[in-house]
Amino acid sequence: MKTLAIETSCDDTSLGIISYDGETFQVDKLIAYSQIKEHQPFGGVLPEIASRLHSEKIIRLLQEIWFEEIEKVDFISVTAHPGLPGSLVVGKSTAQLLGARFQKPVKEINHIHGHIFSILLERKKSDLQLPMVMLTASGGHNDLYLVTKQENSPDRGRGSEAEEGVINTQTIGEYRIQKIGYTLDDASGEAFDKVSKMLGGPYPGGPRISQQALQGKPNPEFHFKRILLPKDQQGNYLFSFSGMKSQVAFLLDKRKKEGKTLSQQDIADIAYEFQEATIETLANRLLKASKEHGTKTIALAGGVSANNRLVEYLSQEIETHNQEEYIKEHNEEVAFLYPTKKVYSTDNGAMIGLVGILTNYFNS
Ligand code: KG4
Ligand code: ZN
Repeated sequence: MKTLAIETSCDDTSLGIISYDGETFQVDKLIAYSQIKEHQPFGGVLPEIASRLHSEKIIRLLQEIWFEEIEKVDFISVTAHPGLPGSLVVGKSTAQLLGARFQKPVKEINHIHGHIFSILLERKKSDLQLPMVMLTASGGHNDLYLVTKQENSPDRGRGSEAEEGVINTQTIGEYRIQKIGYTLDDASGEAFDKVSKMLGGPYPGGPRISQQALQGKPNPEFHFKRILLPKDQQGNYLFSFSGMKSQVAFLLDKRKKEGKTLSQQDIADIAYEFQEATIETLANRLLKASKEHGTKTIALAGGVSANNRLVEYLSQEIETHNQEEYIKEHNEEVAFLYPTKKVYSTDNGAMIGLVGILTNYFNS
């Protein structure tokens, strides 16, 4: 099964051709235009500029795909929501046009489902052992999901429909996805972006902060409190990152009032301490949820999963867990999955195509 996929939900215009041979999800083609430099002067994504650039760039990108390649696909996948309305409409109308021209059905895909299953790009389907707990963390969302096998449900394969009576549960092909955690305010990627701005860095902040943190070191003067909230009344894990951002703002303000300037080393140390606090918070919740639900896999996706330190920290924690006597004896080791390439962590068309295939293939 093969699909042409289109992603235009935010500031990346991305087209992918994805295929599945019954075993592996292959990325045959992935071409993209990142709008970062056009949005940088404004310190964030400007919706009006985003939609205008999508309509300009999507035509240019389409010129890099042969008509013969489009003729070979079984259907077209396109991000339908969530995202910036003016940007989504560019992708959706392009998909409709191509569908009409090449007589291919158009499948609308949820962007978050794309992030969740981005871990399967260039992997075998059997690499994903269920149940799995997954953190999707980016500039716009910061959620925890429990993914289990969907057994003989009439809902199977219907995609983004919520199961009757069960809030926050959806099915994709044979997978049942339950949301078990969310943020009360900012997303973790948003916190990286805001803190980078406070430290005089550009948008997006994640790559810059993680670079600065490499030069930084533990510094008790800049220690930040880990914000670990109790669950909500329905038992969902809660995150809060606006408090993290406020701690940095408060620290910078205090130093300014005291007439202390920030050296390059101070900035690196603040980046280091902020990154450690944010990562420990994310990892703590993932590990806790994994234990609670007895999952076989812990996974990361979304822009923040491109953070090397987060991946390193979680790998170590999971390794330590797997080394415990009891765990070894009872064959309860946990696998760790994150996207095979950094381009699959941030917004991309390939992940949208993969969900299109999961929905169509495993429902046929
Ligand atoms: O998934 P994505 O491309 O777009 C959204 O759906 O938001 O994620 C972008 C976000 C930004 O907030 C960016 O700062 C963050 O992911 N990000 C990172 C890193 N690379 C990107 N955060 C932390 N460390 C990184 N290396
Ligand atoms: Zn995204």
